[in-house]
Amino acid sequence: MELTELWHFPRPDLAGAYLATLNAGLVTSTTIFAPRRTGKTAFLLRDLKPLAESEGYTVVYADLWQTRQTPGAALVRALEEALEPHSLLDKVVARLQSPVKALKGKAEFAGAKLEGHIELANDAKRAISDTALLLDALVVELTKRRPVLFLIDEAQALGRSKEGEEMARALRTTLTKHQRRLRLLFTGSSRTKLGHVFTNANAPLYSAAGTVQDFPLLGDDFVEYIARRFKESTKRKLDIGAAREAFVLFGRRPEPLMETVLALMMNPALTFSEAIDMQQEKLARTENHEGTWNSLDATERVLVRMIADDPSTKPFAKATLVKIRKRVGIDDLQATHIQKALVRLADKTVVAKSPREVYEFENETFADWVRNIVD
Ligand SMILES: Nc1ncnc2c1ncn2[C@@H]1O[C@H](COP(=O)(O)OP(=O)(O)O)[C@@H](O)[C@H]1O
Ligand SMILES: [Mg+2]
Repeated sequence: MELTELWHFPRPDLAGAYLATLNAGLVTSTTIFAPRRTGKTAFLLRDLKPLAESEGYTVVYADLWQTRQTPGAALVRALEEALEPHSLLDKVVARLQSPVKALKGKAEFAGAKLEGHIELANDAKRAISDTALLLDALVVELTKRRPVLFLIDEAQALGRSKEGEEMARALRTTLTKHQRRLRLLFTGSSRTKLGHVFTNANAPLYSAAGTVQDFPLLGDDFVEYIARRFKESTKRKLDIGAAREAFVLFGRRPEPLMETVLALMMNPALTFSEAIDMQQEKLARTENHEGTWNSLDATERVLVRMIADDPSTKPFAKATLVKIRKRVGIDDLQATHIQKALVRLADKTVVAKSPREVYEFENETFADWVRNIVD
């Protein structure tokens, strides 16, 4: 187990406040924003989930970050996992096995909006509406038993594809139908991208998720907690003032502070300021994303962004080539140029094709960073 997991600083008051808001029913869903690595997921899983479960909720957790599945599949998977015993799941799936046409008019499966989708002839759209139906059907089964708290982590991913947007709409429809028994909590780490899903006028979850709230970052009490744990295990005192400063320096992200403290534990000869310097150097080495980005030319950047969004991108497919030309702004860009750009990206150890035929980033946090670039 990682130190950061062993030393989880609990936030019961915050969990209680969030749950009380959702319980009150004035809002049925809420969206919280905070940058990456500041503790959203840990809070959801370690604080909010157990509290909600103790109050009688079934908690469903879906992480849409970097999932190799589509958002729809990830949401359905999460609901399926919550649905035990599996016989119940089988029942739902069996019911859905009847041809989709036959489901039409069965009010128990979908409201008018979903029904509208079913009639679309196009196969892809049909697949999406099938997923939407499945999602709704799973929520129906789950909410029959207990109220459901559905946590959807890194929800800005819903804005990345047509499918994601359809899922966002499906969630909204489902929420409207089951608002007595269903609560949604979304998180996100890109304010702009959250806006595409939640707050812009034509955003698919516009009215459902209300405003985007800032998730309170960890503060002094977290630093004090770390100092206490340090003292317990080393019998030494941590310089609280310096630790607070360091924490701010690290963007109030728990990991770098904890790593600094770990270095102090393992090497008692190290001074605090040396440990912080080491940590900063390490961060600079691994986190100079902007520098990496600036070293790329226009074609390389377009490729990097496409691959970050979809590691199975086929850069040489005709349609992709057209897209790349348009985004780079060079009409006669040829496949050989792309080939060369990909070789350069591999040489710079940014992105390389894996033996599994997908492109892989050398440094996943750079891929994260690229996905969150604001246009
Ligand atoms: N309350 C906490 N106490 C201790 N460590 C934490 C806490 N919250 C987060 N962390 C650690 O910080 C790191 C980033 O947290 P995470 O929840 O993954 O952030 P986010 O979901 O916002 O990207 C993880 O290693 C996690 O264990
Ligand atoms: Mg997270």
